[in-house]
Amino acid sequence: MTEIVLKTLHVSSLIVWIGGMVFAHFFLRPSLAVLEPPQRLALMTAVLGRFFRVVTLAAPLAWLSGAGLIGQAAQAVEATGGRLQLPLYWHLMAGGGTVMLGVYAWIRLVPYRALLAAVGSGNLPAGAAALARVRGAVAFNLALGTAIVLIALLRWPA
Ligand code: HEM
Repeated sequence: MTEIVLKTLHVSSLIVWIGGMVFAHFFLRPSLAVLEPPQRLALMTAVLGRFFRVVTLAAPLAWLSGAGLIGQAAQAVEATGGRLQLPLYWHLMAGGGTVMLGVYAWIRLVPYRALLAAVGSGNLPAGAAALARVRGAVAFNLALGTAIVLIALLRWPA
């Protein structure tokens, strides 16, 4: 039962996090050309503000529920007197997920803060540069997250 709850939390929070990145990267960003540069920046700042508030909950929840799943598995094995041998793909998922969390924290604390400051002071070039750094880091996390989803679903390497 606990395992089902943890896995539901794990996968739901990942759907919000990774799905939001897919939407921002492949649908919202390419459509911004219909707006003038100052409006693009204002829209992206507003959208990212809302998205990041949710990811600040979803990303740690994905990590903690993943750690909980490992704890559950360890308990189940110990109850039968054995010792848990983590499959390799669990190591890859936990390591990759930790990198994703770190990259997200960096986005929030460095380029997103710079974006807010630039928009606040009306400095368009600085805002565009900060947004480009956010975009690059989101693309990295999206690629890594997609690789981890494939690794988890294919259970590879076992
Ligand atoms: C943030 C990136 C992550 C992604 C994209 C991801 C993706 C997934 C997916 C899709 C599943 C379902 C696999 C299935 O049941 O078929 C899963 C399960 C699981 N995840 Fe993650 N995960 C991530 C992070 C983590 C972290 C950080 C941990 C551990 C600290 C973790 C531990 C687990 C465990 C133990 C399972 C159960 C695996 C099994 O039943 O074989 N995950 N994950």
